[in-house]
Amino acid sequence: MAQGFGFQVAARDGAARTGVISTPRGEIRTPAFMPVGTAATVKAMLPDSVRATGADILLGNTYHLMLRPTAERIARLGGLHRFMNWDRPILTDSGGFQVMSLASLRKLTEDGVTFSSHIDGSKHMLSPERSMEIQKLLGSDIVMCFDECPALPATDAEVAKSMALSMRWAQRSRDAFGSRPGHALFGIMQGGVTRELREQSAKALTAIGFDGYAVGGLAVGEGQEAMFSVLDYAPGMLPEDKPRYLMGVGKPDDIVGAVQRGIDMMDCVLPSRSGRTGQAFTRHGVVNIKNARHMDDPRPLDEACTCPACRSYSRAYLHHVFKSGEIIASMLLTWHNLQYYQDLMAGLRGAIAAGRLGDFAADFHAQRAAGDI
Ligand code: GUN
Ligand code: ZN
Repeated sequence: MAQGFGFQVAARDGAARTGVISTPRGEIRTPAFMPVGTAATVKAMLPDSVRATGADILLGNTYHLMLRPTAERIARLGGLHRFMNWDRPILTDSGGFQVMSLASLRKLTEDGVTFSSHIDGSKHMLSPERSMEIQKLLGSDIVMCFDECPALPATDAEVAKSMALSMRWAQRSRDAFGSRPGHALFGIMQGGVTRELREQSAKALTAIGFDGYAVGGLAVGEGQEAMFSVLDYAPGMLPEDKPRYLMGVGKPDDIVGAVQRGIDMMDCVLPSRSGRTGQAFTRHGVVNIKNARHMDDPRPLDEACTCPACRSYSRAYLHHVFKSGEIIASMLLTWHNLQYYQDLMAGLRGAIAAGRLGDFAADFHAQRAAGDI
């Protein structure tokens, strides 16, 4: 296993854990939320500002960066950390998931996937070996296995076949990754919403051996209830002493439920993307800043929030700059949303450490139910 990379659980509360992932680029406090920096930027934010919200790690994307500006160019320029001016840990997704949702003319074989770029139609190929090579060129700290996430709706047989392919690709990813001290490789569990398939996937990954394990193939339209029923058993099938990462999740209540079920890491575009569409997350629920009822409102978005949007501006101002299409609207709302997510994670970590996660979750749900936004 990777030297210089480790995971220490400090406290547990039910299935939930809090701890620290250590890497040569710094520590990641868990449960951790990773802001998404797809194109070598967390949109509308400077890296120092992302850090100021409390983020310990960012997520980057193989798919986007291989197409533009290319992994080779980033490597020549000193790697992704230097390129985007973020010197803390970066986790990169492996590309297959994004190919399936963004690229056209996709052709999937045992070897990998060929596809046309969504940017200019140019032809490209990704395989476990090529994905490992790209993530190495980027200098990613946490590398994800190359996997396939089946599009829904899919039959059990289709999900089983896809999962088996992902497990063969996991072995090829492990072989191609080799030994890279200080860098970690995470396996990705698939198997849809079928317990038996999740079990098979967990066994296959554990036999190969990874530095951490992701739960993939969720939040793809199955709904929260189905996702939670998988999370009731899936994390428990993975090694206790390794981080567990739920990919692409989620809304604040998804995060609370996932942490209660034993998840240590998550990522989602929701806080950053919603910031750019005028949606602000608060303890009392989502505020739509476009709404005319904010036009004369001198109050901040959230009285308790310490972000610049809440410290220095009124809802009336945020409404005005959003309606006027001003760039500062995206900047302030993104900062606020990332602050909300990181404050939520800090609250969860503190609650687990204090053995009060149940109370914390109950308060979280009660505040949202009370409304008053
Ligand atoms: N992002 C969200 N879900 C997935 C998944 O199943 N696999 C990968 N690689 N990325 C994801
Ligand atoms: Zn705020």
